[in-house]
Amino acid sequence: MPEHNRNRQVLLKRRPVGQPAPEDFAIVEAPLPEPADGQVLLRGLYLSLDPYMRGRISGAKSYARPVELGAVIEGRVVGRVAASRHPGFREGDYAYGGYGWQLYSAVPGDDCMKLDPTEAPISTALGVLGMPGLTAYVGLSDIGKPQAGETVVVSAASGAVGAVAGQLARRQGARVVGIAGGADKCRYVKDELGFDAALDHRAADLGAALDAACPSGIDVYFENVGGAVQQAVFPRFNDFGRMVMCGMVSEYNDQEPRPGPNLMSAVRKRLKIQGFIVSDQWRRWGEYRAIAAPMVRVGLLKYREDVVDGLDNAPAAFIGLLQGRNFGKLLVRLAADPSR
Ligand SMILES: NC(=O)c1ccc[n+]([C@@H]2O[C@H](COP(=O)([O-])OP(=O)(O)OC[C@H]3O[C@@H](n4cnc5c(N)ncnc54)[C@H](OP(=O)(O)O)[C@@H]3O)[C@@H](O)[C@H]2O)c1
Repeated sequence: MPEHNRNRQVLLKRRPVGQPAPEDFAIVEAPLPEPADGQVLLRGLYLSLDPYMRGRISGAKSYARPVELGAVIEGRVVGRVAASRHPGFREGDYAYGGYGWQLYSAVPGDDCMKLDPTEAPISTALGVLGMPGLTAYVGLSDIGKPQAGETVVVSAASGAVGAVAGQLARRQGARVVGIAGGADKCRYVKDELGFDAALDHRAADLGAALDAACPSGIDVYFENVGGAVQQAVFPRFNDFGRMVMCGMVSEYNDQEPRPGPNLMSAVRKRLKIQGFIVSDQWRRWGEYRAIAAPMVRVGLLKYREDVVDGLDNAPAAFIGLLQGRNFGKLLVRLAADPSR
């Protein structure tokens, strides 16, 4: 049985212009949703906050429909089944597949995945073993394709996607250089995640730092941030370099698109620049989990979570994500996790 008789939700009150502000969000009470036939009522335990949500609340035309004004903000949730009208789920089961910035959601059981807390902490289904991990895996295996001895540069290297991309590239024998914001993140990337080098994009001359850390040039760039970091990396590609266009989070609050790098060198150097969207590859989630879960269990694939307590703190945490204030996969804890 649900422990509350009311739901709590974060709604999109206003479309942000530039950097989102707390006033763009409204926090409201709402009736508990009733699960229909085939649905489960999921009590959220963790809500994932991800950079892509900035696009969803902007209203701009994209690969997915925007969140309507007055609607619950889009998001993925791990939680516990509070009531089930789906034969595959029972009350008390842990599952991935809850929807939105809210405490409870009624969602199709067919869209949920049961989680076994003895396999991995359930929160990992939103991070290292979830969408961000799959993103790193897909981008690297389909586009980056690092070879042993090549140099791979990863931006937002301490983050949910970047940490996995760098560790996987290193396991494939590449020399991996991470770029992150600040000394603490850089220390983590090098000392904990085991990258060969970590460079602080806030330090004086990123270009010179890249020259020193990548004496043989750059073969693969896993692009997560865009902006000044991209400007520094792009001229340093080797012939036949691959640029994995995963995201450009530093530009998500921009009101005008920035001029990109001059693409003449893409011809001269025969570069491959390819974007991708992980939702095209959901069918490979099982394949990825089969590889990554055993690695996580024995500590071969490390991860870090940045957990913020309470749904009401989601807007501030999300605003911080777009400024690099998170350190690791950003999650909102909606309630104490009984599986820990
Ligand atoms: N293509 C896809 O299907 C797909 C799927 C998931 C994610 N993504 C993209 O992958 C990237 C990383 O996502 P994530 O979930 O792993 O997030 P994350 O790296 O955990 O967090 C975002 C990080 O981006 C950096 N950042 C944020 N604002 C910045 C700014 N203004 N300037 C420079 N750096 C800034 C910060 O790291 P530093 O402090 O280290 O700079 C921040 O910690 C994003 O671009 C996201 O859109 C793409």
